Amino acid sequence: MGNNAKVILDCDPGHDDAISIILAASNVSNLEIEAITTVAGNVEVEKNTVNALKVCDIVGLKDVPVAQGAAKPLYRQAEIAEEIHGETGLDGPKLPDEPKKKAVDQHAFDLIINKIMLSNDDITLVPTGPLTNIAMAMIREPKIIPKIKEIVLMGGGTFGNWTPAAEFNIYADAEAAKIVFESGAPITMFGLDVTHQALATQETVTKFAEIGNDVSDFVVELLKYFIHTYKEFFDFDGGPIHDACTVAYLINPDIFDVKKLRVDIETKGEFSYGMTCVDTHGVTNRQANVNFAYQLDQKKFWSLFEDALSSYS
Ligand code: RIB
Ligand code: CA
Repeated sequence: MGNNAKVILDCDPGHDDAISIILAASNVSNLEIEAITTVAGNVEVEKNTVNALKVCDIVGLKDVPVAQGAAKPLYRQAEIAEEIHGETGLDGPKLPDEPKKKAVDQHAFDLIINKIMLSNDDITLVPTGPLTNIAMAMIREPKIIPKIKEIVLMGGGTFGNWTPAAEFNIYADAEAAKIVFESGAPITMFGLDVTHQALATQETVTKFAEIGNDVSDFVVELLKYFIHTYKEFFDFDGGPIHDACTVAYLINPDIFDVKKLRVDIETKGEFSYGMTCVDTHGVTNRQANVNFAYQLDQKKFWSLFEDALSSYS
């Protein structure tokens, strides 16, 4: 299964980012992780980097370079979501204080630029945090844009979760998102409309707990914490594993229904800053620039997860 895509995971782990990395590194994925880059988002970039390194330790990603990226958005102050992911950014599971793996001594955007410039135009960028690193790479080296195979991102939606209009990843750096969405690179967008369907519940926890290997046990602890905070803050009956939709799509696109739509990013609105203006009915007559995911097949999605976690046994 899978399309042997070469991927760069740009993330802010974060519980759902961590699960996304675990899915990408599993034996069912066939994805080749070229690099993992981190960005300020759920918590400060230093903590997100430590978390990414700890996840690499857990799944045995010894040879994948991890590079730390932007500590703040392009123009604004950093916005963090500590209340959702906890003080460490990965609260819940018991983890060693320090990771064994070390980050490379290179900025994330330089690693992204180098990997893409040296590639055969076959690298897919998979941002699951604010788009600051991606935008900075495009600004520093515009030649990467036509060489990017696809950008498969988690962000936005026809409604918000950080403000009534805006989802966190886009809100955290809407100027960066505007650069990316207007770049012309092929984009497949996993917004809240579809990621809220990827709802891990207590039943999911019970099922995953039966798998019984170190990685599945780690995911169980992540989900227990995530489900608790989503109940507390949003009164959800589960935790939406937003970011993992990107990797699940790359492994098996048949899990999702997508449609070409126009999406513009609001960077000026008093109440709408960070909104992804999704032209669901084509009223703008502006050229569609996004493959918009709107539906997922529950059975295929969760059985992929079970297979992926079982592959670590
Ligand atoms: O709004 C959900 C997004 O914000 C996810 O990427 C989650 O990890 C947080 O970064
Ligand atoms: Ca994230």
